[in-house]
Amino acid sequence: MSTHELFATRASRMKASEIRELLKLLDQPGIISFAGGIPDPALFPAEGFATAFQAALSPQMQAQALQYSVSEGYVPLREWLVDHMREIGVECGIDNILITSGSQQALDYLGKLYLSPGDTALVGWPTYLGALAAFNAYEPRFDQLSIVGNRGAAEYVEAAGEGAVKFAYLSPDFANPTGETVDLRGREALLDLTDELNCAVIEDGAYQALRYDGVAIPPVLALELARKGSIEECRTIYCGSFSKTLSPGLRVGWVVASKPVISQLVLMKQAADLHSATINQMAIDQVARACFDTHIPMLRRVYGARRDAMLQALQDHMPDGVQWTKPEGGMFIWMTLPVGTDGADLLARALETVKVAFVPGGAFFPDGSGTNTIRLSFSNSDEDTIREGIRRLGEVLRT
Ligand SMILES: Cc1ncc(COP(=O)(O)O)c(C=O)c1O
Repeated sequence: MSTHELFATRASRMKASEIRELLKLLDQPGIISFAGGIPDPALFPAEGFATAFQAALSPQMQAQALQYSVSEGYVPLREWLVDHMREIGVECGIDNILITSGSQQALDYLGKLYLSPGDTALVGWPTYLGALAAFNAYEPRFDQLSIVGNRGAAEYVEAAGEGAVKFAYLSPDFANPTGETVDLRGREALLDLTDELNCAVIEDGAYQALRYDGVAIPPVLALELARKGSIEECRTIYCGSFSKTLSPGLRVGWVVASKPVISQLVLMKQAADLHSATINQMAIDQVARACFDTHIPMLRRVYGARRDAMLQALQDHMPDGVQWTKPEGGMFIWMTLPVGTDGADLLARALETVKVAFVPGGAFFPDGSGTNTIRLSFSNSDEDTIREGIRRLGEVLRT
């Protein structure tokens, strides 16, 4: 028997996607890519990081920067996060915060913490592909979270069968892949539903800081805190990330939750990787303190203009029958093609004929539906490139 026949059952649920194969073509010259949901590297606070790493490697700091450290995370960074969370409406203490290696690690740990095989995770249809991949390893069922739909708690419980509904996962601000935001009423309705279901809420705040217009809506955790008075009473677990604001390469994110949840996650982190890179946490801390307040408004201006350029270009070049979202922030616009137009076929055609890339939407649906959708990212192209890429995409859609 070869060793791959010995893999655990969960391994069979981890599949490479065909789309990734297509997207390998992105390295070709001349391709306009709206595929990756990544920050523009030209906007990284690179000088700030150069100074921060130099300071961390100075004789006074290097013993700490290069050493093992505590699993909970670098204390000054957690203190900065206490202030940051307060600014967005969440009163918590340093013991309510765990630093993770990106928010992706938090999603993996939360899947591991909550999901026994057969338990149900409620997710959006579509939802963030990385969350589906993280949770999938723990062999759950996925059910569709419909916040202001007419499904009551009893229906979710019945659909869960033998397993229990363990959590609802959502990214309420400028979601990946749709760019959509859950309004205040929706957030309150979610809390009503999850209270009734007695399940956790995983609030993914990856894009929370990137709002380009409209008025900020309090995080679900802030609304729950207002209801319950203390974070220790809250069932919402907030996952934050510096990836979209400062740097994804340093892999620094955080979790905010009640102390029993954090303590359990700390045990998981000890078992998995002991702690996130000390020097990276120190650098993020220094850069956040030095420039978060000026860097975010700059990102909002630049990405906001790119979003506007893409929305205008869509208006100018899309044929009838194509619809798209109008996000107030984040990095994505979600497009629905006429029924019968397959997003993956369109990608193959667009790459071949006009050298434009995007992500077909089907992969974001746990049940493989949504094949007539695509995700466009506007964060990593300048406005002229966006206009030209959308013009070309309109051309392919017309042929
Ligand atoms: C909604 C969402 N959550 C989480 C992540 C993971 O980000 P990171 O692990 O870099 O913090 C991403 C990355 O694209 C994302 O789009």
